Amino acid sequence: MKHLLSIEDLDRDGIVGLLDGSEYMSDVLAREIPKVPALRGKTIVSLFYEDSTRTRLSFETAAKRLGADTMTFTAGSSSVTKGESLLDTVRTIESMGIDAMVVRHASAGAPHRIANWIDASVLNAGDGRHGHPTQALLDAFTLRRHRGDISGARIGIVGDVRNSRVARSGIQCWSRLGADLTLIGPPTLMPERLEGWPVQVTFSLDDVLSELDVIYVLRVQQERIGRALLPSLREYYARWGLDAVRAQRLKPDALVMHPGPMIRGSEIATEVVDGPRSLIREQVANGVAVRMAVLWDLIGSGGVV
Ligand code: NCD
Repeated sequence: MKHLLSIEDLDRDGIVGLLDGSEYMSDVLAREIPKVPALRGKTIVSLFYEDSTRTRLSFETAAKRLGADTMTFTAGSSSVTKGESLLDTVRTIESMGIDAMVVRHASAGAPHRIANWIDASVLNAGDGRHGHPTQALLDAFTLRRHRGDISGARIGIVGDVRNSRVARSGIQCWSRLGADLTLIGPPTLMPERLEGWPVQVTFSLDDVLSELDVIYVLRVQQERIGRALLPSLREYYARWGLDAVRAQRLKPDALVMHPGPMIRGSEIATEVVDGPRSLIREQVANGVAVRMAVLWDLIGSGGVV
């Protein structure tokens, strides 16, 4: 595999291979010196046209744990503000000699375009409403560690599915691994067209809450939603928020996930975030191992140490 642009590029075996590689990387991270020289001499640049905390730092940590050199580009403090185009920016960076470019962009398809322009490997770190493949993989990895198998797990994805690249990649990834997926949320935040999606849909969280093995809570992405589509956050929370009362109605062994950034009290309660069912911090920790596995798969050569 040269690029990771979408989960659609991977079949079940491809996904499982990356999850197995992530297990190995997770062992590396547990060593006293959590570092291997597998990508020594390689250069990885993160090209971020949209804000990020977790994804950028996670990719950069992953690259460093593998011994690669890293560079960071953030659009707001670059010559983009002087009018430089995406193509010229990308070509300029490529001229410095890079092996991989980790791209986040507000436009769906930007990483695909970049992959056509440069020789380096391109990794999609979130493009518009389209995809966020490493998030889906790290969530699958986290779930697999807890359940042993994702196949047959009933996963409810709650909230702003329409605007969520995390949900889109998650659906593609977890359905390939055999999960049973239900989308939950207000009709205005559901995708306009769902034909062919391997999901069930319900507008009532309370109807399905007690049947879920995993509840995957999404942020209400106010920056992408027109005012008219969301009456009020208070109303949203009352019907679709995972508060402490609802959390008590979950199955005893049900798990709670969230990709971050979380807005406590807007879609999920503090007690639930920090409660015993929550995998939210583990998701972040596992992101490093999964991104190490992906980077190594794309630009590694020879064995890891
Ligand atoms: C998300 C994103 O940027 O797509 N966060 C992430 O990468 N973990 C989700 C969001 O912004 O709500």
